[in-house]
Amino acid sequence: MYSEKFQKSIALVEAARAKNIALEPARMTAQQKTDLLAEYHPDYKQDEFELLAIGPNKGDKVPKELAATLQAHSRICPNCVDLENPDYDVDVLVIGGGGAGSSAAIEAHEAGANVMIVTKLRIGDANTMMAEGGIQAADKPNDSPAIHFVDAFGGGHFAAKRELLQKLVCDAPEAIKWLSELGVEFDKTEDGTMVTTHGGGTSRKRMHAAKDYSGAEIMRTLRDEVLNRNIPVVDFTSAIELILDENGNAAGAVLLNMETKELLVAKAKTVIIATGGAGRMHYQGFPTSNHYGATADGLVLGYRAGAKLLYAETLQYHPTGAAYPEQIFGALVTEKVRSLGAKLVNVNGEVFMHPLETRDVSAASIIRECSTRGNGVETDQGLAVWLDTPMIEAIGGEGTIEKRIPAMMRMFGKYGIDIRKEPILVYPTLHYQNGGLDITPDGMTTNVKNLFVAGEAVGGIHGKNRLMGNSLLDIIVFGRIAGKSAGAVCKNVTVGKLTLDHVAKFEKEIADAGIVTDAVSPKLLPDYTRKVNG
Ligand code: FUM
Repeated sequence: MYSEKFQKSIALVEAARAKNIALEPARMTAQQKTDLLAEYHPDYKQDEFELLAIGPNKGDKVPKELAATLQAHSRICPNCVDLENPDYDVDVLVIGGGGAGSSAAIEAHEAGANVMIVTKLRIGDANTMMAEGGIQAADKPNDSPAIHFVDAFGGGHFAAKRELLQKLVCDAPEAIKWLSELGVEFDKTEDGTMVTTHGGGTSRKRMHAAKDYSGAEIMRTLRDEVLNRNIPVVDFTSAIELILDENGNAAGAVLLNMETKELLVAKAKTVIIATGGAGRMHYQGFPTSNHYGATADGLVLGYRAGAKLLYAETLQYHPTGAAYPEQIFGALVTEKVRSLGAKLVNVNGEVFMHPLETRDVSAASIIRECSTRGNGVETDQGLAVWLDTPMIEAIGGEGTIEKRIPAMMRMFGKYGIDIRKEPILVYPTLHYQNGGLDITPDGMTTNVKNLFVAGEAVGGIHGKNRLMGNSLLDIIVFGRIAGKSAGAVCKNVTVGKLTLDHVAKFEKEIADAGIVTDAVSPKLLPDYTRKVNG
């Protein structure tokens, strides 16, 4: 139920609804997109970025907040940790208990490795759990991995590492099969055919979903599989520094018990970073759709140990974060809402863009509508545009919303907004880090041996912008690859003497570069304490 101040605009949206449903908004030309992004997308705001002064990517541009955390002090004194008597000694150490970490652990276990997951919250407290719209895979007769590649490569501004993207799209059908066999309940028609929809930038309907809680369904299944296999999960325990051996190879991690603050040492033949994203860094002050632990930890761990980053300057702002009410500010409103027919309209009830442009273009378009064009709807949190959800019922028939996007209906319903009858207010929200650690197609980092990465902590799979549904896909595809690779590699690894010399070396680089900071990293959790003046 909206207050009085929104009613005039809602009346305009309602009056234009039938006309807007019939409208076929034009797609933007390549030049229009380039110009739009340059002026309105947050990635192009030069004064929000900083050049790194130290480390493997010295001289590269990253968001200011990321620079501060990458160039912060370690949480440990390297000489104070007893590396001689490890608390854990395993073949494969998986850092992170989301979809990528769980997939990796399952495959490493399948390969016969002694594997352990360490996670700073609990298994499943991850962005995977919060993913809504679906997972892409070209497994229908009118589609192919090649067409999937072309869509994703173009959507990512032709910047994806081709060999990674090739793996992603070619392994996608098998990923769906694997998940189905593990027990994921994808939406199907009565004859068992998978229901698939479009996402922004897709030329074929290849989004497989479990209503609008696809990530939760996948995570539930993966978590059950990890637990059924009795893979040890050390929860509420963060990796705060990687350990290398005397040969410079990854050989474990220093862990911090989040409750007791006790330091623990995990020795390992191979390490997999699967720590997820960075939404809780709130770059440029944006709200986020991410879970509480998304603080770029894996990037810090890898960077300090010498691993290179790729495209860390590119972030994804999901076009439709909830902008009202305040209680769900920034929460994800799945792209599936637009796939099912809802259009974005401004304060005057006018459609201002094609609803399924790629995400960066859609977000920039909304920002332009609200800023220079002055066509935003004012809320207490800022400006927003309408997403006209009742269009879905008008197009798909009564009951479509409850059947296809029940989580959306419930999320807004809790605040008295019936999305079947009333439009909702949206604005871009920080959703995904396109960049991350640079890997080869077997999942190993390009320059630290025996260190693997999977999921959102990887950079380069999607180029500089990701299409919807390719993230749930990459956590499965590259999680499995990392697990299989680490499970195979560990058989031939003899770990040398453990060392934290790289941490001491990094501290020296901080001092030599004249960086003065009292920040420590990895950040682990966001800081939402109110700062009292004076
Ligand atoms: O809109 C969504 O449901 C988000 C999907 C994704 O980021 O892949």
